[in-house]
Amino acid sequence: MQTEPMESNEGRTPQTKIDLALWRKLWVFAMRYKRWVWLLAFFAMSTGGFDAALPWVTKNVVDDLVNPALSPDLVTYGGIYLGLSLGLALSVFGFLSCGARLRTGVGHDIRQAGFEKLQELSFSYFDKRPVGWLMARMTSDCERLTNILVWGLLNIVWGSTIMFGVTIWMLIVDWRLALVMLCVVPVLAWVSSYFQKRILASSRIVRKTNSRITAAFNESIMGVRTTKSFVREDQNLSEFSGLAGEMHGASVRNALQSAVYLPIVMVIASLAYALTLGVGGQRVMNHVIPLGTLVMFLQYCRLFFDPAQELAQLFAEMQMAQASAERVVGLIEAEPEIRDSEAVQQQIERFRRRDVQAADLAVDGLPAAVGAIEFKNVSFEYKGGQKVLTDFNLKVNPGETIALVGQTGGGKSTILSLLSRFYEPTSGTIEIGGVDYRERSLNWLQSNLGVVLQAPQLFSGTLAENIRYGDLSASDEQIQAAAKLVGADEFIAELADGYDTEVGEGGNKLSTGQKQLISFARAILAAPQILVMDEATSSIDTETEGRIQKALGQVLDGRTSFVIAHRLSTIREAHRILVIEHGSIVESGTHGELLLQRGRYHALYTQQSLRENARDEREWRSSEPLAE
Ligand SMILES: Nc1ncnc2c1ncn2[C@@H]1O[C@H](COP(=O)(O)OP(=O)(O)OP(=O)(O)O)[C@@H](O)[C@H]1O
Ligand SMILES: [Mg+2]
Repeated sequence: MQTEPMESNEGRTPQTKIDLALWRKLWVFAMRYKRWVWLLAFFAMSTGGFDAALPWVTKNVVDDLVNPALSPDLVTYGGIYLGLSLGLALSVFGFLSCGARLRTGVGHDIRQAGFEKLQELSFSYFDKRPVGWLMARMTSDCERLTNILVWGLLNIVWGSTIMFGVTIWMLIVDWRLALVMLCVVPVLAWVSSYFQKRILASSRIVRKTNSRITAAFNESIMGVRTTKSFVREDQNLSEFSGLAGEMHGASVRNALQSAVYLPIVMVIASLAYALTLGVGGQRVMNHVIPLGTLVMFLQYCRLFFDPAQELAQLFAEMQMAQASAERVVGLIEAEPEIRDSEAVQQQIERFRRRDVQAADLAVDGLPAAVGAIEFKNVSFEYKGGQKVLTDFNLKVNPGETIALVGQTGGGKSTILSLLSRFYEPTSGTIEIGGVDYRERSLNWLQSNLGVVLQAPQLFSGTLAENIRYGDLSASDEQIQAAAKLVGADEFIAELADGYDTEVGEGGNKLSTGQKQLISFARAILAAPQILVMDEATSSIDTETEGRIQKALGQVLDGRTSFVIAHRLSTIREAHRILVIEHGSIVESGTHGELLLQRGRYHALYTQQSLRENARDEREWRSSEPLAE
């Protein structure tokens, strides 16, 4: 249920310091849109200016009105007032549209940076971070930060223009009355910071609970079949009710706090108003200031406390959003653990500059052909896990087909992940063509690698697009040929839209076996030098599988391949079969050799054959025509 284990900041009292270095990193994203930032600041300032200018017109009108010697030109004043109001309206329009544009741009860029990083990061990054957590980073955190960056900038510029301008102007006009009005500011500041922190803390709990509720919905929708078959509905429901209750409590608290805060601020503002009215009224009666000045001060009093509130809220929000900022910057700045080393990057650069076009050389200037692959004393453990491989040794010659079999959890998939450099050995080396693969280009290795997995990953789009993933330049004919080769064309032909059928998100409109066939076609199209198949045919019927085997035999003749299969009948033809147990090779040889040894493989194989024969016999009997 706990979907956000990485939120180490959640639940902690909010940080009271604003980490400027962190915000500056995000600010860089806004500065890509310098023009819009300046425009936004300009409009925010002019809005503040117009806001502050209107009471000044009122003051002049009032002063003229109460002076019997003058007859005020009301039409001119009306015109000025109208002009200023129009200016205000235009400024508001200006900052709203700039803000929206800036927000869209910055939001897009931050997401883009995060998305690019996700493509680049190594598998170990994802082992530690649940998908739900990453999704939240890319959606809600980004959204919050973008909002704060843009509307924060606006509020700061607008608010400080008004507060600063009004304060200076009031001090010039009548500094004593100005100080009387401003004496409530410290009280307001204290009350605001007290309440804002609490309001945001409870709204944070609301948000956190909300994301857990979303996760609970998600899990229960995804797992609806399992839930039903295990009759777990009641338990799930009670867990959910607990969450919903928590959410309710926090929401009520949040609403109450807001309900108390606003009236208090109103009282403080009214207090300032009353003080100004009292002291100012006295000064008017004593003829120290004209009536118009008092009216202007009273209007400024209203004008002053709006931005003060906004800024208090913004400041508290920034403290809270700092956790989001840390997470987003953390993701954007994460370094992939597996990448080309400095030396390799320089080597690639040097080779690129020499500008030699040789088909038999890779980007790093070393042979493009994948030679012999050798695991030398490889040990490996997942981060925070126990040792999976210890001093593992294996040499595979080019063109060899190696099958890995053995008990579940033995380390077969791990061996292939290491080979694919999804992970690197903790100690020892893996050499390709006699060179440690860490001294070669990562891109060279992975682009020569075809991987077909038990749970194949398809992407939203058509069948043809999913096959073309293997080779973007492939023609429709080549795609169809690849599909035909693996026997996928039969089921495709039965679909109304054929190759243009949409496969749905993650290919969920296809059966697992169909997905496996498509990912096979994709691998065949890419014609990689090394083919890695992890339980790739587990959901395909035996007949189709036989056809795929034959197809692979043709296409991958001369290429190195690694096959993991629990169904042993499928790997009989492998050049070498390795039985893996607890991360070591316990037996090795061809199918015939291993059967003769009468060891682990023999035991596994005979058990499976017995089971299969028994099943075949049952099926045969049930399909026998009844005796006439
Ligand atoms: N991402 C991971 N993080 C931590 N431990 C892992 C991870 N993947 C696998 N392991 C552990 O490594 C060991 C070997 O797993 P591996 O997947 O290599 O086994 P396998 O032989 O492929 O098993 P199976 O036949 O069930 O696919 C297991 O004990 C497993 O718990
Ligand atoms: Mg496995």
